[in-house]
Amino acid sequence: MQTKLTNDIYEAAGYIKDSQVTAFPTETVYGLGANAYDEKAVSKIFRLKGRPQDNPLIVHIAEKKDIKVLASEINNTAAQIIKEYFPGPITVILKKNEIIPDIVTAGLDTIAVRMPSLKIAKNFIKACGVPVAAPSANLSGSPSPTSFTHVLKDFAGKIPCIIIGPQSEYGIESTVVDCTSETAEILRPGIITAEELRNAGIKISVSSFNDINIKTARSPGQKYRHYSPKAKVKIVSSQKTFEENSAYIGISPAVKFTKNIKLKKSCRNLYDYAKNLFSFFRECDDKGIKIIYAEKVEEKGIGIAIMNRLKKASS
Ligand code: TXA
Ligand code: MG
Repeated sequence: MQTKLTNDIYEAAGYIKDSQVTAFPTETVYGLGANAYDEKAVSKIFRLKGRPQDNPLIVHIAEKKDIKVLASEINNTAAQIIKEYFPGPITVILKKNEIIPDIVTAGLDTIAVRMPSLKIAKNFIKACGVPVAAPSANLSGSPSPTSFTHVLKDFAGKIPCIIIGPQSEYGIESTVVDCTSETAEILRPGIITAEELRNAGIKISVSSFNDINIKTARSPGQKYRHYSPKAKVKIVSSQKTFEENSAYIGISPAVKFTKNIKLKKSCRNLYDYAKNLFSFFRECDDKGIKIIYAEKVEEKGIGIAIMNRLKKASS
């Protein structure tokens, strides 16, 4: 199969209307989309990624009014999050409507809904005319793609279309928030943090704040090994010696490098760390790096999401 790279969202939407899949950029990571109402199209996503059937997909929408079509209940907390943070890098879990086929939600009675803020993504979804079910556009187990070249690397010749977009602004996947009860719980940490949600007056349970690992087990995807480069990832705080053929990523400029370090990335701040993490993993794999030293950061704010991804990559 020829993989078409395009800037034309209408051309890309044509594939979705034709029961095929298309990869598209968002502000978090690239997604691999299919018509959420089309069971056969959605099954292609699972097959292509090698994704376990019990791991549900996020349904992407272009307009807030579409939430009512997908969800049977939007409580006050959900409404608040949607009002403040849609469109943006956050996904809400709501009670689902019958209209969504079981394959999308892995048989759960809930549905994950997200409205991306990246303009190309919004326009593409609008052009599809249907909600778009999409996981991250990577092979199951490999790091999420933050550029169209990453998608091409995993799916060239296997999917019909990739929309060319910018490097992902945030670089890690959306914050997933279970909004099925009035006190919301973060199932997957992201750029929108628990602190931020709380400061906006949204009720977030204390446990999700401190005990992210236990809570994430409720989001089926979190039980699988994820985000992993082929290289071994070591989380370090003040590493002084480096093994041969290794790489380093972190935010501290103070780290002294040796000649064993083949690749290094000094990030300006936590945002920059998150933005570059997955692309750095992929670059290391391309260059045959054996060990990636990743700097440990404080588990606070965005640091929680970064450490969540690092722990998964190193496990
Ligand atoms: O930023 C993102 O969220 C990207 C872009 C493409 O939107 N998408 C993404 O999808 O990261 P994926 O499939 O890689 O991760 C979705 C996560 C999984 O951990 C999945 O288990 C969880 O969301 N999830 C989906 N539906 C759920 C549900 N009904 N209940 C609990 N967790 C759910
Ligand atoms: Mg994923």
